[in-house]
Amino acid sequence: MNAIEIVELHKTYHGLLRRNSIEALKGVSLSVKQGEIFGLLGPNGAGKTTLIKILLGIAFADRGQALIFGMDSRTPQARRSVGYLPEDHQLPEYLRAWRALDFFAKLYGLQERRSRIEELLHAVGIAERRNSKVREFSKGMRQRLGLAQALLPSPKLLILDEPTANLDPLGRKDVKDLLLRLKEQGATVFISSHVLTEIERVCDRVAILHRGQLLTEGTVDELTQEKSLEDVFVELVRGAHAMEQS
Ligand SMILES: Nc1ncnc2c1ncn2[C@@H]1O[C@H](COP(=O)(O)OP(=O)(O)OP(=O)(O)O)[C@@H](O)[C@H]1O
Ligand SMILES: [Mg+2]
Repeated sequence: MNAIEIVELHKTYHGLLRRNSIEALKGVSLSVKQGEIFGLLGPNGAGKTTLIKILLGIAFADRGQALIFGMDSRTPQARRSVGYLPEDHQLPEYLRAWRALDFFAKLYGLQERRSRIEELLHAVGIAERRNSKVREFSKGMRQRLGLAQALLPSPKLLILDEPTANLDPLGRKDVKDLLLRLKEQGATVFISSHVLTEIERVCDRVAILHRGQLLTEGTVDELTQEKSLEDVFVELVRGAHAMEQS
């Protein structure tokens, strides 16, 4: 069974009186095997977040199917095995870092919260700031804390929407190492990004999404035999643009 199975997913956002409708997903199909790190690449507005929200049952598709470990993504059971870091992650500003994590640990009903929180604060590299309030955190530190929150319930599937957007090179390296460790432990990771060079090195497979359609999908090796992934990305997106104009 695949960790994620998406079949012919369609999603249109309707404007007022159905004017200004935006077709965010135009029949996207993809699958993610258990234990792999999968990268969904695409420029701004490609439909990455929409696809992730459908996977989490936050948004609903007009047509098609999204399965998580064989379960319909609209069911609560499907979400039990998922950890999620949203692209615009917010944590309560007035809480200290460890307290913010404790809040979510209680929500998840975790046992031995203290040791799990300490472990995660170290894993994301903010242990020495455990007593700082969230409002004193830099953007990158917030992102690290968000990642720790997503990891709290030891998810079998981790979905990260632009996880490295605010991170400095050290932070990116930390996240990369962390993802590889999770993979070693058998977790599946689904990352969306438009920052190509970072993802290139950790993903087993990537798909390139553009205006709601997949342009290509394959292993990083397959796609980068002759060119860097960045060049493949730019060429495909420019080619798709040119086709639309003609
Ligand atoms: N709630 C919404 N209402 C209307 N249109 C939306 C909504 N959410 C997204 N869209 C539109 O759907 C398209 C895809 O947006 P989405 O957020 O999925 O893209 P993205 O690939 O995540 O982009 P980014 O890299 O900028 O985060 C865009 O054209 C966007 O304007
Ligand atoms: Mg997005």
